Amino acid sequence: MSKNSPSFTCTTCGASHRKWIGKCEGCGGWNTLIEEAPLSAGPKALGSKGRAIHLTDLATVGEAPPRASSGIEELDRVLGGGLVPASAILVGGDPGIGKSTLLLQAAASFSRHGVKCLYISGEEATAQVQMRAQRLGLTESPVALGAETNLRDILTTLDTERPGLAIIDSIQTMWLDTVDSAPGSVSQVRAAAHELVTFAKRRGVAVILVGHVTKDGQIAGPRVVEHMVDTVLYFEGERGHQFRILRAVKNRFGPADEIGVFEMTGDGLQQVLNPSALFLSERGQPSPGSAVFAGIEGTRPVLTEIQALVAPSPLGTPRRTVVGLDSGRLSTILAVLEARCGIPFAGLDVFLNVAGGMRVTEPAADLAVAAALISAREDIAVPPETVLFGEISLSGALRPVSQTENRLKEAAKLGFSQAIAPKGSKLGQVEGMNVRQMPDLTAFVGEIFGA
Ligand code: TYD
Ligand code: MG
Repeated sequence: MSKNSPSFTCTTCGASHRKWIGKCEGCGGWNTLIEEAPLSAGPKALGSKGRAIHLTDLATVGEAPPRASSGIEELDRVLGGGLVPASAILVGGDPGIGKSTLLLQAAASFSRHGVKCLYISGEEATAQVQMRAQRLGLTESPVALGAETNLRDILTTLDTERPGLAIIDSIQTMWLDTVDSAPGSVSQVRAAAHELVTFAKRRGVAVILVGHVTKDGQIAGPRVVEHMVDTVLYFEGERGHQFRILRAVKNRFGPADEIGVFEMTGDGLQQVLNPSALFLSERGQPSPGSAVFAGIEGTRPVLTEIQALVAPSPLGTPRRTVVGLDSGRLSTILAVLEARCGIPFAGLDVFLNVAGGMRVTEPAADLAVAAALISAREDIAVPPETVLFGEISLSGALRPVSQTENRLKEAAKLGFSQAIAPKGSKLGQVEGMNVRQMPDLTAFVGEIFGA
């Protein structure tokens, strides 16, 4: 492709194509390609002018990178134990989910803990940010504010102010005068993120970039900058719920899959230090279709309630509706139940839901899902005070999962006294917990539901 010929870039995944096509070959999205003007300035040469540095020459070899604490425990854990200096972090999420609120609170908290913070909003005037700060009770915090979208001005300010942390809200509003396209386009977002990340590494300023998840494809989404940053966090939540989950999907300096749980209140976000209690708080008496899963999110055990509803279907193809779990996993479990245990779901609508707006990705949830499904179908409640975990294989066997002892301890802490686990699990010593180990799904169904 000649240097100046236009190219077509996917606004969802950033893949570039030589000609316009309806379906992106990178991510499979429809109508996500837009024409991009070529960059008018090439990337600048970076680094130590071609000189290689030996790993052993580095002064900090053997030491963990020093981290700054925000004082917000849920945020520090997701970051892998605090903010790493000179790192670049992306915080993605749907518009209106609470990213600006979270980051303004984080900026205030970091600055109270000795990290100089600069919060730059490209969406709101400083007076509006101040109003939000007032509402959040943060006006006493020494955070520097800026309302600016021109990246050249922002970099100049960062260079003179030299904060420890700069927050850019949002990357889609920033623009560089060397790139000939509108703010929010893939090339602007990429170039702006590249400049900021490079600046962060060179000058030792940590940057947090806010990225709105976009649906319509007119504006580039946060995925186009995911590969440039050290840490990618997504802020998620269901519209109707006040819970918000900050999830690490990539972290060069800590574990991915770690979550932080927050609650949106009238006075901003409050951290939730014991999410299990919160997710189970709406649970009433044990009823058919409900099973409690003892899961692990990152390094922390979290108990969630899996709910199922099974009803005769008026449709030719029965409905399979899933919220908070993978729908492919539901199909597999339904197939195993039918083929290995003789429990058919043909002609029945199946609705599956994780209570509280949580999203469960662990295969260890299989057994709790199967329990909820059978319980709903047979109209028999799962025994009270019972938690379940275990992976189901296609043969119907139950496979042990990791961190069994942590799961059991968390369940015992929340008042559960019974657990059902795969045979061969490393149980450890958990007081007050009666664990029944099952080799396969057939044995489980026979023993718990008497079928
Ligand atoms: P915001 O942080 O502006 O979202 P984003 O930056 O992700 O677009 O959050 C906006 C929502 O949060 C808005 O619907 C109102 C709600 N909110 C509260 O419920 N309480 C609060 O104290 C604040 C500041 C916002
Ligand atoms: Mg915002």
